[in-house]
Amino acid sequence: MGMEVYAAAKLNLTLDVLGKRPDGYHDLRMLMQSVGLYDRLTLELREESGILLHANRSFLPSDSRNLAVAAAERFLERVGRQGQGVYIELEKHIPVRAGLGGGSSDAAAVLRGLNELLGAGLSGQELEKLGEQVGSDVPYCIRGGTALAEGRGELLTPLRPLPHCYVAVCKPAFPISTPTLFSRIDSLRLRCRPDTAGALEALAQGDLGGLARRMYNVFEEALPPSRRGDVERIKSVLIDQGALGACMSGTGPTVFGLFREEGDARGAVEALREEYQEVFLGETV
Ligand code: C5P
Repeated sequence: MGMEVYAAAKLNLTLDVLGKRPDGYHDLRMLMQSVGLYDRLTLELREESGILLHANRSFLPSDSRNLAVAAAERFLERVGRQGQGVYIELEKHIPVRAGLGGGSSDAAAVLRGLNELLGAGLSGQELEKLGEQVGSDVPYCIRGGTALAEGRGELLTPLRPLPHCYVAVCKPAFPISTPTLFSRIDSLRLRCRPDTAGALEALAQGDLGGLARRMYNVFEEALPPSRRGDVERIKSVLIDQGALGACMSGTGPTVFGLFREEGDARGAVEALREEYQEVFLGETV
């Protein structure tokens, strides 16, 4: 009866903020990659109307502040089935408010899942348009893989897949507010920008090392100094353990490193677990 759908985490291999727009959002340029760290969702149709969500993390909202619920609402509205009841069981594994796109990916999984469950037949493009109304990263999460995201994040160019590699992911415990970081970045004169063109060139040539060396996220500069120190420390552990490159993802605070060898990535995970609680090993997908 229920349908299982999986929601993959995303990494920002590069993240550049190009400027603030009249609508209050920012124009971005980001190289995105999905990683095999998943939330699991079970979707069921219910007799009674309304969208019910139950999550294995009690601090998560179960109303439309949860992007999975917001996505279900948008979807039912779009296909004219507002009265349809839906139950969503959400098993979170992706760290929350981490810069890993977990909420956006849950929303994307709900859109894909309900499209199938209800036989609604919306195209990928139509799902992405709907996703855009739920959150800026949702269209990318519907596609996954390796892509360049521009505009608010919704203008996607699929790219040659990143050569397979291992990823060590570490979320330090401090909280980050995405709107606050966006407003901080408006008042900064950025000293360092990612070499997106060089990263795209490396990717086109299948040059994992060249890409990893060019990874950079401008939000690292917008962090308060002590937090920036934490991010730098995690990066240096990753590099010491053999990462080809290391970078913060999204508006943080998660930091990740890319590794050619699984053993090196495992070593990094073990070293970071001595100090941090939320540390994971993954592979690009
Ligand atoms: O679109 P989403 O709801 O995910 O965005 C969350 C917040 O991040 C926005 O309210 C805005 O402050 C900021 N944002 C932005 N420019 C973007 C994406 C997000 O300013 N392209």
